[in-house]
Amino acid sequence: MKNIAIFASGSGTNAENIIRYFSDSETIKVAVVLSNNRHVKVHERVNNLGVPSFVFSREEFVAGTPIINKLAEFRVDFIILAGFMNKIAAPLLKAFPDKIINIHPALLPKHGGKGMFGMHVYNAVVAAGDRESGITIHYINENYDEGDIIFQATCPVLSTDTPDDVATKVHALEYAHYPKIIEKVVNHPNIHPEDV
Ligand code: GAR
Repeated sequence: MKNIAIFASGSGTNAENIIRYFSDSETIKVAVVLSNNRHVKVHERVNNLGVPSFVFSREEFVAGTPIINKLAEFRVDFIILAGFMNKIAAPLLKAFPDKIINIHPALLPKHGGKGMFGMHVYNAVVAAGDRESGITIHYINENYDEGDIIFQATCPVLSTDTPDDVATKVHALEYAHYPKIIEKVVNHPNIHPEDV
């Protein structure tokens, strides 16, 4: 059994979806959820499903050791970012090499980088007049949204779509694909992105 930790900063709909997907899994268990924010809905969502959650300060994230110790306590093998808004600091990257993955709600390298999260991304897609958007699942490296891409899925963007419409389509792609890609990558840790 591989244990995963989910890092989330907001509502936690992806965290909930991932936990539900693996609830009967014989190979993967969501052991713990970590957040930088005490006041967000993710805690209630995951606690209701029996998964513990913890909050860490920015200083603790940057230092790394408190996080690494908490992950060791839960024997975590893999870290899944699901709407996590802090940059992953070097000590954690070093402790989990190629074992941290993220989902971004656009087709990277478009609409990525610092400050590009949630509605900012959907606003940018509509403002750019893009006729297509989607999701990108990628490994984390030291730069925002620049790690190796594992998987992308697309959706059409109509000229009449609002940012909320784009959000709805992108969330549907996230819920459909993220758990399955996590399953493949965690069960085959050395898998080449092209083979996912
Ligand atoms: C998700 O749409 C995720 O792709 C996005 O935050 C949302 C979190 O929603 N992540 C980013 O924008 C990262 N740059 P959730 O809390 O309901 O899962």
